[in-house]
Amino acid sequence: MPLKILFAISEAAPFAKTGGLADVGGALPRAVDALNHGHDVRVIMPRYRSVSTEKTDYLIDFPVPLGSERETAVLRWTSMPGGVPVLFVDNYRFFDRDGVYGSGGGSYVDNGLRFGFFCRAVVEYVRRSGWFPDVIHINDWQTGLLPVFLRTLEHAEPKLARVATVCTVHNLAYQGAFDPSLLGRLSLPAGLFDSQFLEFYGAVCFLKAGLIFADKLTTVSPRYSQEIQTEEYGCNLEGVLQKRSLDLVGILNGIDTDVWDPETDTHCWDIHYDSEHLSGKAEIKRRLLRDFRMPYRPQTPLIGVVSRLAGQKGLDIIESAIPALMSRDLQMVFLGTGERRFEDMLRYWSARLPGRLNSYIGFSETVAHRIEAGSDMFLMPSYYEPCGLNQMISLRYGTIPIVRRTGGLADSVIDLSQGSRGTGFVFEHYDANAIVWAVDRALGIYADLARWSKLAARAMKKDFSWRKSAEHYEEVYEWAAAERAGGRRGRFSMGA
Ligand code: ADP
Ligand code: GLC
Repeated sequence: MPLKILFAISEAAPFAKTGGLADVGGALPRAVDALNHGHDVRVIMPRYRSVSTEKTDYLIDFPVPLGSERETAVLRWTSMPGGVPVLFVDNYRFFDRDGVYGSGGGSYVDNGLRFGFFCRAVVEYVRRSGWFPDVIHINDWQTGLLPVFLRTLEHAEPKLARVATVCTVHNLAYQGAFDPSLLGRLSLPAGLFDSQFLEFYGAVCFLKAGLIFADKLTTVSPRYSQEIQTEEYGCNLEGVLQKRSLDLVGILNGIDTDVWDPETDTHCWDIHYDSEHLSGKAEIKRRLLRDFRMPYRPQTPLIGVVSRLAGQKGLDIIESAIPALMSRDLQMVFLGTGERRFEDMLRYWSARLPGRLNSYIGFSETVAHRIEAGSDMFLMPSYYEPCGLNQMISLRYGTIPIVRRTGGLADSVIDLSQGSRGTGFVFEHYDANAIVWAVDRALGIYADLARWSKLAARAMKKDFSWRKSAEHYEEVYEWAAAERAGGRRGRFSMGA
């Protein structure tokens, strides 16, 4: 059944990106559209300074109630490659800033108001345009209030009662917790400040709002959907998630196989390769090492890391493993930006280990592509990883992933102990020794270059395109829309 689907998200490539969320925002709506099942797919996101107004067209503007005030939302739009329309909520006060969530390592103090405003503006757009989606797909805490606005405004606008919502958790640890006074400032009923609704340890929690109010929940890998129902990974929301387990499914992300393609990659000095012809990969490695001021030795494996420098990503155990790793014949390159302690750690080791280890502290698409293509191995020892895109990108580039068995890493990399199905090296324990053990296994195989090339070729043939995931999302959209249309989702009432 053709559906009207509105995809609400805080970042989408190529318009704004801080991490994998933007990759999903830029690719999944297009993949759903490309199923060619007649769906009317639109994306809506804030217009940050990174999106020039000149590249967008004005659509409408309208006031958005914010407590006793009103703030104007201007809607602009453009098309994604492939034709899916992207609507931008433009507001000078909230979004005309350099950062998406903050600057200089800190978060903007008014993030609750900024994204609360965004959610309210989306509902207002729906109401005013008369384009009532069958499903609004929300993503992470930034859009968590959207179903709350729908359910609390449907009394005044009954057509909103038929709009279903699907909430995808990309990362449970970022919860969007704000001062309870925010409810009033967003014109939401004070009664929502209750532990069965939005209250969470004394704060108003946007993510909890999404988890409670959305019709269906998804995570970005099947394993993560199970992990977050446990105390270890549940970030104190495991109880809420357990209660909703029948509405929760895990769908592995895909990667944008047009952007990430060693046969056509435009970032790697116009050098290309495929699974049968890997000589281009060696040349990219040589140039990558030159750029990092490191000597090129064909027999010495290069381990790459591209990561947000955040606690989740296992940088503390990488740090502890560096001395042992450096006693082996290998080189390492890092690309990342984020927490100061990890940036400093990388600067320290880069200065101490010239020719052996170097890092680029910053955000660079080009360097990311070059590391993915030019490295022999890719290290991703995350403590938790909802999905992770870099390990899948690595596989596509024949760069063998070394990962910890968690979340999407466990769902996308098959350990070599599984014989001819194996695509990488997977370890269990979160410690430096486990990294070193896994790297040693990889070095053992790398020593046999013919065997290594076969492994690389096998990795490159794995299919991580978005199509399969898009089909799964389509099922979830249909499920959510059918329940709502059938009235199986009751009206929200504070006394419920
Ligand atoms: P997360 O979203 O948790 O950061 P993912 O693996 O899902 O992790 O996605 C990370 C995305 O961000 C990938 O597209 C990766 O290439 C990109 N990325 C991360 N750090 C950088 C950086 N410093 N420069 C360029 N791209 C980066
Ligand atoms: C989050 C997760 C990451 C996931 C990405 C896209 O940033 O940390 O694992 O791949 O979202 O879903």
